[in-house]
Amino acid sequence: MKRLIRPGIQDLVPYPPGKPIEELERELGIQGSIKLASNENPLGPSPMALEAIRAKLNTLHRYPDGSGYYLKSKLSEKFHLPLDRILLGNGSNELIELIVRTFLEPGDEAVQPFPTFLVYEKIVKGAGGRMISVPLADFGLDLKAMVNALTPRTKILFVNNPNNPTGTILKKLELFQFLKNIPKEVIVVMDEAYVEFVTDPDFANGIELLGKHPGIIVLRTFSKLYGLAGLRIGYGFAREELADYINRVRQPFNANTLAQAAATAALDDRAFEEQTLHTVREGLQYLHERLDKMGLDYLPTQTNFFLIRVHPGGREVYEKLLREGVIVRAMDSYGLPEYIRINVGLPEENERFITTLKKVLTLT
Ligand SMILES: Cc1ncc(COP(=O)(O)O)c(C=O)c1O
Repeated sequence: MKRLIRPGIQDLVPYPPGKPIEELERELGIQGSIKLASNENPLGPSPMALEAIRAKLNTLHRYPDGSGYYLKSKLSEKFHLPLDRILLGNGSNELIELIVRTFLEPGDEAVQPFPTFLVYEKIVKGAGGRMISVPLADFGLDLKAMVNALTPRTKILFVNNPNNPTGTILKKLELFQFLKNIPKEVIVVMDEAYVEFVTDPDFANGIELLGKHPGIIVLRTFSKLYGLAGLRIGYGFAREELADYINRVRQPFNANTLAQAAATAALDDRAFEEQTLHTVREGLQYLHERLDKMGLDYLPTQTNFFLIRVHPGGREVYEKLLREGVIVRAMDSYGLPEYIRINVGLPEENERFITTLKKVLTLT
C-alpha cells in the first residue's frame, strides 16, 4: 500500500489537530477552559460580519459568486489596487497551497526561515518539493543566509512578516535590500497574517513593496484582526499575470458565500478593529508586566502572540496548564522546546493564565 503514496507525502508529519474544547474538558473532568493557543481574536467575530452572514443565510441554495466581486471591490478601494491583482482563498492557507501548485514542480526547492509557520513546509513537501529551512538569527529572519540558500532550483521564498511564532518583523530598508538580491524568477510569498497588529512605523509593508520585485505575492487574512478564523477567508495581492495563473488553478467557488459577505462587511467594522487592537495592546502590557515580576523571559512582539521561556520545558508546562484548563501552544515542533506561545486573551483570560502559570511553575 505504501508504494501508492507519493514520496513527498510519505514523510509528512500529521498536523496535530487539538481536540474540541468540550471533549478535552470531558476527558480531564474540568470546565470553563480558555484557549490562548491559535492566535485567534478573543473578542469573537466582527459584529458587522455576523450581521452580514445572517442577511445571506437564505441564499445558501445558490453557489457563491466565483469572481468575489464585492469583496474584491472593497479590497481594491481600501488598498488602491485593481481587481485583477487581488486573490481570494479559503483562508490564506489555501492561497499558500494554490501558489505552490501554480509555481512548484516536484523536485523544485522552496526556502523558508525556521522556525516559521509550519504550513509552508507541509504544502511544499506535499507537492513533492524540497523545503530548505534557514535558521533564524537572534529570533529574526536571517536574510543574508536566506539569499545564500537560493539555488537555480528555488521557485518560492517564504517571508513571514511578522514571523509566527517569534513575533519579529522585518524593516523597510532591510527587506528592500534583500529583494534586490532575489532573482526575478523567484516567487516571494510575503505572508502578513498579523500585519494589522504591528506598531513599529518602520515595518516593511508588503503592499508598498509590490513594485520592488516582480514575484512578490502578499498574503493577508480575515482570521485574526476580524475574528473570522472559522469562516476561512484570506486574500492576497500579486502582479496581474501571477494572479491570473493562480486563479486558473483554484476551484471556481473557493471563497464561500458567507465568508465573502462577512469579510466585505468586516472591512467597514472600524469599531471592532479598534476594540481588537486596544484589547491586544492592553493585554500585552498586562502580561509583560506580570511576567517581568515573575522573572520569566519572553520575546518582545509586534503581533497578538508571543513566546515565553519556561522551565523545565514547553511541553511539560503546556501539559500542566492544559490540566488546569488553560490551553497554550508547546513549541517543540517549532524547534523551540524551552518555549510556550500564547496569544493575548480577554483581560480575565490573561489573569487566569498568569495565575495558573504561577501555580504550575511552583509545582514543577
Ligand atoms: C503566519 C500565518 N499565516 C497564515 C495563517 C493562516 O491564516 P488563514 O486562517 O487565513 O488560513 C496563520 C494562522 O495561524 C499564520 O500564523
